[in-house]
Amino acid sequence: MSKRALITGITGYVGRGVARRLLEDGFEIIGLVRNGQDDYEKRVEGLRTDLGESEKLMFIRGDLTDDNALKDLNVEGITHIVHSAAVTRFNVEADLAQAANVDGSRKIFEWAKCCRQLECFSYISTIYACGLVDGEVLETRHHGPRTFANHYENSKFDAEALLQKEYGELPWQIMRVATIIADDDHGRVTQQNAFHNTLKLFFYGLLSLVPGKAEVPLYFVTGRFVVEAIAELTQHCERQSIVHVCHSQDETPTLGELLDLAYDRFSEEEDFRSRNILRPLFCDAESFGLLAGEAEEMGATVMSQSLGSIAPFAKELFTVKDIKNDRFRAALKDYRAPDPKVLLDAVCGHLLKTRWGKRAG
Ligand SMILES: NC(=O)c1ccc[n+]([C@@H]2O[C@H](COP(=O)([O-])OP(=O)(O)OC[C@H]3O[C@@H](n4cnc5c(N)ncnc54)[C@H](OP(=O)(O)O)[C@@H]3O)[C@@H](O)[C@H]2O)c1
Repeated sequence: MSKRALITGITGYVGRGVARRLLEDGFEIIGLVRNGQDDYEKRVEGLRTDLGESEKLMFIRGDLTDDNALKDLNVEGITHIVHSAAVTRFNVEADLAQAANVDGSRKIFEWAKCCRQLECFSYISTIYACGLVDGEVLETRHHGPRTFANHYENSKFDAEALLQKEYGELPWQIMRVATIIADDDHGRVTQQNAFHNTLKLFFYGLLSLVPGKAEVPLYFVTGRFVVEAIAELTQHCERQSIVHVCHSQDETPTLGELLDLAYDRFSEEEDFRSRNILRPLFCDAESFGLLAGEAEEMGATVMSQSLGSIAPFAKELFTVKDIKNDRFRAALKDYRAPDPKVLLDAVCGHLLKTRWGKRAG
């Protein structure tokens, strides 16, 4: 029987990669696309150019915040669903996080119930869905109540809880993904996020204080690793399972190691050295909160913007999580972790060479 997958978030980093990979494996792909800055037709044209013209690649228009998001989508023949659409900004507002990430997910879960040939529903979550906890984080259900660094984390926790509580009949699996910092082990970066932005502030001398503790582990992965894992586990579904798509703590750098490594790498550049930039100092949560609050009151200054970009995830930089990935390691055929320092060095090198995407690589 031919395999047909619905992929939400296909215009995003992960969804697009998974679509490319499943097309290679012979899947028919239906991508959910909403109107963006460009109109729907233009976005679809761009995706066809990127993913390659194929009669196996189809699209449907839909915005998960609309009540009728999936009304034109035929459930017939759908064997797999990869739900990766979400608003992923750490500073997302509470109501938008609820509408897109929780209520939007519910619409996909409901629709999935009508797919009679469904073999696997992969819900793409985050390792930070556990919220502000220290210690072991297991590949099991998170129980509330919990506190979170931001509404993004909270909405992923809520969507997970909804799926587990109300959709037991679906062949779901939850994949909690770590922070993607590069496309692959060579350190190329095509999508920048809070990680890259923080390094940029450091390089340009706008990061004299860092909220957090040096020993906090930062769980990083590459896009290729994540896409391969999602594609493989979606095709070998273990129903009602939860996996952490990440490396283990002993394969993971700490915040202190990241700052040291970035400082040494940046110091190889004359323009960094000439600015006499010092290593940022760690500060406690309360001091950082006060500083960020005061900077915000001063209006749109460079300082308020730089502190404001870190504030939405600052609380996570104080939690020492030991994220377990035993089930994931056992499920994946060729699990391998890169040397974290080599990967970070390659990413810093790429960011420097391209000046965070402003120069040709
Ligand atoms: N990247 C990471 O480091 C990382 C880490 C952990 C977990 N994750 C999870 O992985 C998934 C994919 O992340 P990503 O990095 O690929 O994110 P991304 O590049 O920001 O893409 C998000 C996708 O969701 C779509 N989307 C957002 N709101 C929507 C709505 N209302 N209706 C329909 N589509 C909507 C976006 O469409 P538009 O193009 O129209 O905006 C885009 O296709 C997310 O669920 C995220 O929580 C990612």
